[in-house]
Amino acid sequence: MYDGDIELGRNDACWCGSGKKYKKCHMEFDERLQRLAEQGEQVPARALLKTPQDIEGIKRSAEVNVGVLDLVAERIGAGVATEQIDQWVHDYTVEHGAIPAPLDFEGYPKSVCTSVNEVVCHGIPDEDEVLRDGDIVNIDCSTVKDGYFSDSSRMFCIGDVSPEKADLVRVTKEAVEAGLAAVKPWGHLGDIGAVVNAYAKDHGYTVVREFGGHGIGNEFHEEPFVSFVTKPGTGMVLAPGLCFTIEPMINMGKARIDMSDPNGWTVRTKDGLPTAQWEVQLVVTDDGYELLSW
Ligand code: MF3
Ligand code: CO
Repeated sequence: MYDGDIELGRNDACWCGSGKKYKKCHMEFDERLQRLAEQGEQVPARALLKTPQDIEGIKRSAEVNVGVLDLVAERIGAGVATEQIDQWVHDYTVEHGAIPAPLDFEGYPKSVCTSVNEVVCHGIPDEDEVLRDGDIVNIDCSTVKDGYFSDSSRMFCIGDVSPEKADLVRVTKEAVEAGLAAVKPWGHLGDIGAVVNAYAKDHGYTVVREFGGHGIGNEFHEEPFVSFVTKPGTGMVLAPGLCFTIEPMINMGKARIDMSDPNGWTVRTKDGLPTAQWEVQLVVTDDGYELLSW
């Protein structure tokens, strides 16, 4: 087969776990992928395609992930230390039978990323970092439950933020929505990055190149890498069952980032200007996509 996986017989049980015969289930689907691969398209390996059972598991994980962010939304405000947010996330997640995916991930010390103002991503919660009126902050939550991963992030405006910062936060959210509208089964991953980038650029912003979205579900980070500096019609074919995040980091100033923080994690804008990010997780379906975490 195109991905080196075994070829099923027509009457074998389908790989997706439907219980149907292969010929009545995913045989034509696999033939389509095979043809695309032969035409030189980049097609997802079968191992990346989520079965209905996988999607159920991811949804149970995402239910906790969305719940965590809803809880943060209720409580966040001026005077809250980012360390406090870490505790809310940790406790809610564990109380719901799940584990915060960032904790101990490649040595990451906390349960959530809290990225304030000029911090692009991977801000580490700290008891000395207290949110103040006028801050914008990204809260990035990721959950693993029964082996299934979910991941989404939201921006929060603390008190009265400047119109410039509020616009950045709003436009970044709209860019993600434009990206979602570009998700078409059998389309290309590059279609998404192209519209996100154009949307940001039209508003005078820039898009971070070094970080992006990712496949997710059975692992925290799977293929493909989801760039937001892409051309339409390029990149992986969006086969139904592909599950990934859309999470552009959009800067008010220049796109360049600074990764020199001694903690090894925290990424900032090089020019010190504010940056924003929203993240959603979705699965491609036969007629569009389904949002799994937000
Ligand atoms: N949640 C981030 C993402 O969207 C990953 C953070 S890794 C961590 O992919 F270790 F910093 F948490
Ligand atoms: Co992510």
